[in-house]
Amino acid sequence: MEIRRGEKQSMSTILSDCHVTHLESAIDGTRHDAGVLQSTHQGRPLWVRYDLDAIRESVTPADLLSRPPTMWRYHELLPNRSMKDIVSLGEGMSPLLACPRLGESLGVPGLMVKDESQLPTGSFKARGLCMAITMAKHFGVERIAIPTAGNAGGAAAAYAARAGIEAFVFMPDDTPAINQYECVLAGAHAFRVNGLIDACGRIVREGIDELGWFDLSTLKEPYRIEGKKTMGLELAEQLDWELPDVIVYPTGGGTGLIGMWKAFQELKELGWLKNDRMPRMVSVQSTGCDPIVQAFDKGLRFAEPVKNARTVARGIRVPGAVGDFMILDAIRESGGCAISVPEETILEWMAEANSNEGIPFCPESSACVGAVDSLARDGWLDRDERVVIFNTGAVQKYTETIAVDLPEMDCTETIDWENFRASCHGDDKA
Ligand SMILES: Cc1ncc(COP(=O)(O)O)c(C=O)c1O
Repeated sequence: MEIRRGEKQSMSTILSDCHVTHLESAIDGTRHDAGVLQSTHQGRPLWVRYDLDAIRESVTPADLLSRPPTMWRYHELLPNRSMKDIVSLGEGMSPLLACPRLGESLGVPGLMVKDESQLPTGSFKARGLCMAITMAKHFGVERIAIPTAGNAGGAAAAYAARAGIEAFVFMPDDTPAINQYECVLAGAHAFRVNGLIDACGRIVREGIDELGWFDLSTLKEPYRIEGKKTMGLELAEQLDWELPDVIVYPTGGGTGLIGMWKAFQELKELGWLKNDRMPRMVSVQSTGCDPIVQAFDKGLRFAEPVKNARTVARGIRVPGAVGDFMILDAIRESGGCAISVPEETILEWMAEANSNEGIPFCPESSACVGAVDSLARDGWLDRDERVVIFNTGAVQKYTETIAVDLPEMDCTETIDWENFRASCHGDDKA
């Protein structure tokens, strides 16, 4: 069935046109068949390519307005073959929140935050994993395995459960407890590994022949990027098709940043953007693990894996990314930069960011707040620029990182309100 302009139909009943033409090696452009399940080319990622002329013919930005506010409203630009078969937990559009108070304190009053904590399983990982699992199911996969820093595992487990696919999840042994629980609760086989995400990835690779699972690692299959791409599509639509000046993104494996940059290229080619101005992409890491920043500073296209990676922002504790060159290409093409934030400041930024606007900034995105501060101080950001930070996950998932010790109250005693006021506000404001 074809979607015609202005028709208001429930998305669940509509079959989408699939405009995928082929897959393309990101390293050398080799074409691959999109009609069969693919992973990588020479160990490097594949792009999904579309017939953008056909998409331009079949949909316009105005058509989107009557569609439900979920990431599937962009289905012409996605690889799923039909809307009937999507594996979904209701991936709503995430809010784009103006943050004048936080922005003013950082020197960029036009600051906005796209709050991905509101997606299923509490992080942006839902976008990539619902798409990857939708496609895995389409190709008949019955068992998947994934290495994770935490949130991807939780999302993979949930979507695998939704799809009726068996899931194996491997995570470093200090992964936040909530991430461990969510995998187990969703029925996945979850394991704590005494190493980092690269060691977990090695286990997944080795198990392919032994257990016959499909490797859902970051960029080891082509479709997670396409789900992540919807962050860029949504942002463009929310800003009425005029992209911001700068996007600040916490970078681990890089699918978020790469996916958004791909979205902007496709929108430009479709002619949907009101002007062709692209945002400068800023990749944020911690001084405890900053392979992309080091490669950027040295002018390299491929990053050296870092040794002894450590950061409280577990999602960006990725010593070596398989899509390093894709991240670095996007940053450079956009005129952006890569910056590392001192590891010992991340929790301070987390406290500052959370209390300032009430948005549940995760440690990874709190690092982005610190990055904006230093970029504004250095003059790399102008005061009047429109800057968007992505809050990639809900801080509530990081119970070990949030060190809170509430004062206790004895309800059997008479309350001394004078003391109470002083303890809340300090003597001077009591
Ligand atoms: C909360 C959070 N932010 C950022 C990242 C890094 O994402 P990407 O792999 O897209 O660079 C992760 C990855 O686990 C994460 O969980």
